[in-house]
Amino acid sequence: MNNAVQIIQLPKILDRRGNLSFIEAGNHIPFEIKRTYWIYDVPGGEVRGGHAYRENQEFIVALSGSFDVLLDDGKEQKVFPLNRSYYGLYVPKSIWRQMRNFSTNSLALVLASTVYNENDYIRNYEEFLMEKQ
Ligand code: TYD
Repeated sequence: MNNAVQIIQLPKILDRRGNLSFIEAGNHIPFEIKRTYWIYDVPGGEVRGGHAYRENQEFIVALSGSFDVLLDDGKEQKVFPLNRSYYGLYVPKSIWRQMRNFSTNSLALVLASTVYNENDYIRNYEEFLMEKQ
């Protein structure tokens, strides 16, 4: 797997009143944050993603519940189960990805390095493999 792909631990402030974690711009994650979006109310069995980005990098956190992120760098596939809000998965550009096995009430937070641009998506797997070469 592309060795830039990594699980990044976030600060976790433990307190008898509950836990607190945070992400700061310029700290914790290896890109400048331009956009935040979240995925929620995913019906059981649904699959999200099924694309790669030409430029966009992302950091994905399971703020609540759990889901799996399947990454494919064109050579190798790897599944990253996310189920804690104090770490996340860094996904560099040019990685094919799917998100699946969403638990009931799961909430996926995604920080992105670019604003939304449909032209940045590669939605066809064969085209993804061709662009990798
Ligand atoms: P898409 O990225 O295909 O969702 P997923 O990867 O989770 O399956 O986005 C679904 C739709 O939402 C698509 O029509 C584009 C739109 N969208 C935006 O307008 N802005 C955004 O930041 C994102 C992520 C999606």
